[in-house]
Amino acid sequence: MEIKNHWNLVFENKTDEQKSWFQPTPETSLRFMNEFALPKEASIIDVGGGDSRLADVLLAQGFTNITVLDISSKALENAQRRLGINAQKITWIESNILDFTPSIQYDCWHDRAVFHFVTDKKEINAYKILMAGALKNNGKLIIGTFSEKGPEMCSGLRVQRYSQSKLSEALSEDFRKIKCMEEIHHTPFQTTQSFTFCSFSRKESAN
Ligand SMILES: C[S@@+](CC[C@H](N)C(=O)[O-])C[C@H]1O[C@@H](n2cnc3c(N)ncnc32)[C@H](O)[C@@H]1O
Repeated sequence: MEIKNHWNLVFENKTDEQKSWFQPTPETSLRFMNEFALPKEASIIDVGGGDSRLADVLLAQGFTNITVLDISSKALENAQRRLGINAQKITWIESNILDFTPSIQYDCWHDRAVFHFVTDKKEINAYKILMAGALKNNGKLIIGTFSEKGPEMCSGLRVQRYSQSKLSEALSEDFRKIKCMEEIHHTPFQTTQSFTFCSFSRKESAN
């Protein structure tokens, strides 16, 4: 099945409690982001944001330049419905991240549980080049993937798992590591998943 249809079916048919990745509040992402002390007008993109609550909290914190990108129109519709009138304050982009051509450079790129679905070497490389080009000099990157102790699949799709050193190494050409940690995610069905969460700063020498 085409990947877009896969995700549309997921977001059409599953409640929050049926999605392993669901978080009522994305605590780890917010902690990483708040450590950057970004100005409220900073341009922030949540890649593969789906119907995550990250945008809701960032809006509530006063951020004014938030973009949510996702391959699934259904995910974006869910998020827009939930946000109601506040949805107008966000830029929504329906796209496969691998086909995305950014029209601006961002201050902060957030990706929780999306990069790990990119498993083909050429596509991993394309994603890294895209991120480096889409971030300003010293722009901030937050990535959360399944760790090497995490599941091998999510939503029926194979993932590439990363240890903290593997993720840092994978991005080392264009990104300086700020910090990494393990997050134990508690799924809505009382299981746990080990995530590798890292933050980076884009090197000035990156393209
Ligand atoms: C496991 S969910 C995580 C959602 C969100 N980041 C969160 O933390 O709640 C993966 C998300 O990535 C999106 N996605 C998967 N592959 C994608 C791709 N190639 N381009 C853009 N979005 C993608 C899916 O539609 C889904 O919303």
